[in-house]
Amino acid sequence: MTKTLRAGITAIGAYAPAKVLTNDDLSKFMDTNDEWISTRTGIRRRHVAADDEFTSNLAVSAVLDMQRRYGEEVLEGVDMVIVATNTPDAYFPSTAAMVQNYFSLKAGAFDLLAACPGWVYALSVAQAYVESGICKKVLAIGSEALTKLIDWNDRSTAVLFGDGAGATLVEAVEEPFGIKSMILGADGEGGKYLYARATGKSLLDGTEITDHVYMNGREVFKFAVRVMNTSTIEAIEQAGLNSADISLFVPHQANLRIISAARERLGLPEEKVVVTVDEYGNNSTASIPLALTHAVDGGRIKSGDNLLLVSFGAGLTWAASVLTWGGTK
Ligand code: UT7
Repeated sequence: MTKTLRAGITAIGAYAPAKVLTNDDLSKFMDTNDEWISTRTGIRRRHVAADDEFTSNLAVSAVLDMQRRYGEEVLEGVDMVIVATNTPDAYFPSTAAMVQNYFSLKAGAFDLLAACPGWVYALSVAQAYVESGICKKVLAIGSEALTKLIDWNDRSTAVLFGDGAGATLVEAVEEPFGIKSMILGADGEGGKYLYARATGKSLLDGTEITDHVYMNGREVFKFAVRVMNTSTIEAIEQAGLNSADISLFVPHQANLRIISAARERLGLPEEKVVVTVDEYGNNSTASIPLALTHAVDGGRIKSGDNLLLVSFGAGLTWAASVLTWGGTK
């Protein structure tokens, strides 16, 4: 009997820039305060890339962290590099090609844009490559230098975002490990609620804009709570599980209130959710792989655990997945 090939995450690594801005730091140059930010979002600090530190540098640092954990040979045989990002170093070439070049990999490379769920989308592509036999070892990275796109005069967005990167290696694993479900969705109708464009007119009201992040926070909040609920339930069902089977919930880290609402709807206790938004803010595609790395470092994930991942963001897009951790290096 031929065995079904199943893809799983076999190695991880993460990186956050050294520079940290606390809520109090922000309140020194904009009309905000720690009380507002922490009660509305759960964010206390965010890591900010240095002037000469870009998305490719953060991605490379996350992969170096992976090598530090598993040895340099972890990258042997990598045949595809995918970088999920909203903030590539350049329109082209891809950030992924810069990572490929840094590590001298004999691999294909491309960037993937699906906003904050980008890393989960990259995981789904890596899964398809591995399970179809097109690739054997895929580096799926989420990397973001979002603070370079922030309008520091707009307190409604400036306080929310941070920079960072998370790297994962995806390859074939034995049953019962690996990716058990994948839910991907988009609703372009809501594109006007969260976007950044190089130049031109606002998608919201037609006014002239510059290259900054624009967001209707309330609309995104409502969408996030709705879609975190529906997509997690779908992902658990597609995996043939119940929410009681979930060992750890690793959601996109945008707002603690959104995370708590999803956790409560799933009936999961607080100890089953990973929260890093207090330390990093929302670093978009990096948030789930960074949170995963923290959970591993904290001894919160063991072989055989069922992890529930979910993310939402501009597009509007969303993605949810259940995977059984293990079969790892
Ligand atoms: O990856 C996806 C990314 N996006 C998200 O996840 C965002 C989802 N949305 C949210 O997290 C929330 O909507 C926010 C945290 C962005 C905002 O929270 P809110 O409870 O929806 O606040 P609001 O936008 O309704 O603003 C309430 C008040 C306003 O003042 P008035 O009009 O009531 O007088 C704002 O001007 O809070 C004011 N405000 C602030 N005050 C202090 C907005 N930003 C700030 C700030 N500091 N930084």
